Amino acid sequence: MQFDVLTLFPEMFEPIKTSILGKAQEKKAISINIINIRDFSKDKHKKVDDMPYGGGAGMVIKPDVVYDAYMSIKNKENAKVIYLSPQGKTLNQDKVEKLSKEDHLILLCGHYEGIDQRVLDEIVDEEISIGDYVLTGGELPSMVLIDSVSRYVEGVLANDSIKEESFSNGMLEYPQYTRPEIFLGKKVPEVLISRTSWKYK
Ligand SMILES: C[S@@+](CC[C@H](N)C(=O)[O-])C[C@H]1O[C@@H](n2cnc3c(N)ncnc32)[C@H](O)[C@@H]1O
Repeated sequence: MQFDVLTLFPEMFEPIKTSILGKAQEKKAISINIINIRDFSKDKHKKVDDMPYGGGAGMVIKPDVVYDAYMSIKNKENAKVIYLSPQGKTLNQDKVEKLSKEDHLILLCGHYEGIDQRVLDEIVDEEISIGDYVLTGGELPSMVLIDSVSRYVEGVLANDSIKEESFSNGMLEYPQYTRPEIFLGKKVPEVLISRTSWKYK
């Protein structure tokens, strides 16, 4: 699966180069391409934002730089473009699973007061929020989306854990235990011990 991320802060994406997502990229189960919107600024100081029409606090990301950054993405004809936004529909496990069926997602990260509406109207298919609170930018939400969606992509997880996990059948997962069998006087529930197939070596 291909993810292209449009952001003003590419350096924020270090965490998804490690652990399970890092390995998934090495195995080419997923590919994550980070595009710096600022590279498309024609301003000599690489400015990408400007004051909002109508007044108000904060700055708005300019439509032309976002559009040019989007246009630089290759083979985007069948990609779904998602703007991470507090005004979007809240992400849940059903939505995550649906998105995992796509071949190509383009994730647009806002910052400051947001992005000029005209470019959103032009390129965005869907707005997604990760919860009813406001963050400083769309970078963390896009990493949440990439992480949760990637877990459904073949070759990313080594085992069948998504089938049994919380939300997979509308329920939450049971508590987990491992060795030692007794920790601080608390014993692993007998029902789990009797069902355990592995044995002490
Ligand atoms: C400070 S926010 C802008 C908030 C906007 N002015 C408003 O009042 O709705 C900057 C950017 O962070 C991202 N963002 C903030 N909260 C988010 C959330 N809960 N879910 C997804 N993206 C979010 C969006 O990309 C947004 O453009």
